[in-house]
Amino acid sequence: MNLQVCRSVLYMPASNARALEKGPSLQCDAVILDLEDSVAPAEKSTARVAAGQALSELDYGEKLRVLRVNGIDTAWCEEDIAVLGIAHPHALLLPKVESPEAIARLSALMDQYDTNGDVKIWAMLETPKAVLAAADIAATVAQYPRLTTFCIGNNDLAREAGMQMQSSREFLLPWLLQILVAARAHGLNILDGVYNNFNDTEGFEIECNQGAAMGMDGKTLIHPKQIAFANGAFSPNDDQINQAMAIVEVFERSENQHKGAVQLNGEMVERLHLDMALKTLAKARSQ
Ligand code: COA
Ligand code: MG
Repeated sequence: MNLQVCRSVLYMPASNARALEKGPSLQCDAVILDLEDSVAPAEKSTARVAAGQALSELDYGEKLRVLRVNGIDTAWCEEDIAVLGIAHPHALLLPKVESPEAIARLSALMDQYDTNGDVKIWAMLETPKAVLAAADIAATVAQYPRLTTFCIGNNDLAREAGMQMQSSREFLLPWLLQILVAARAHGLNILDGVYNNFNDTEGFEIECNQGAAMGMDGKTLIHPKQIAFANGAFSPNDDQINQAMAIVEVFERSENQHKGAVQLNGEMVERLHLDMALKTLAKARSQ
């Protein structure tokens, strides 16, 4: 599991010079410079040049820098990957991944520029076929260890399935959980999809909290306004930190050293809760 914190992951169209320039000053954990959906066909090549320049010349500090290339079967994909010849992002994000083969093909193309396998693969799952193949795609990590992260593409998924987007995500949730379980079964990180209405603070906050409760590692974002709340929602809160410290403390007591289950404030806690508590505290320390 890649432990790099990824609570807030902001997309920015690589065709938008203002957005690329603004990136370094924003408080998100990662930026995704986009060459796909947010860039019109006529702008693909200028956006590619701008992304290469931004990735090699701008100082994004500690933030992860990710480049979203066009789909593996598009005419643009190979040239997009060639940006690795001049820049070293943390990862390439491949959209419309529907099968293990897409990961294999991307990994082989990346090998031409990055022989050590340093640049990771983030895969977007955003079609009905991707939902059905999620476990097989996640399992490719054994063969292609560049794969570290799944990203949900909820706009494409809803469109392709003919589903209306609802504020509760009632009908989408089973698919999100299927993708999440596939990611976890193979030790991958998983990032929740975007919330389009960036002026609807209340709806965004509900969806962020829903994603965090579901077990997502963070949320992909479209607007700087969304960063601060996502950082909070995907960090352990004070109650969670206090509870984690109490669990650690109760298992440290001499009378509990050899016990598997103990009582804490009227509730059973087991050693699996101790593992979870230690993870919560490690996460809190790294933020
Ligand atoms: N990344 C970086 N900066 C952004 C940004 C983004 N995604 N979205 C907006 N900004 C900046 C704007 O440049 C502007 O900066 P300035 O005031 O310093 O000049 C400021 O934030 C306020 O922007 P605002 O006027 O509210 O929005 P906008 O009309 O400029 O942009 C969108 C609205 C939706 C077009 C824009 O947010 C966007 O392109 N988002 C990402 C889209 C995307 O990548 N989609 C693909 C994945 S789903
Ligand atoms: Mg898409």
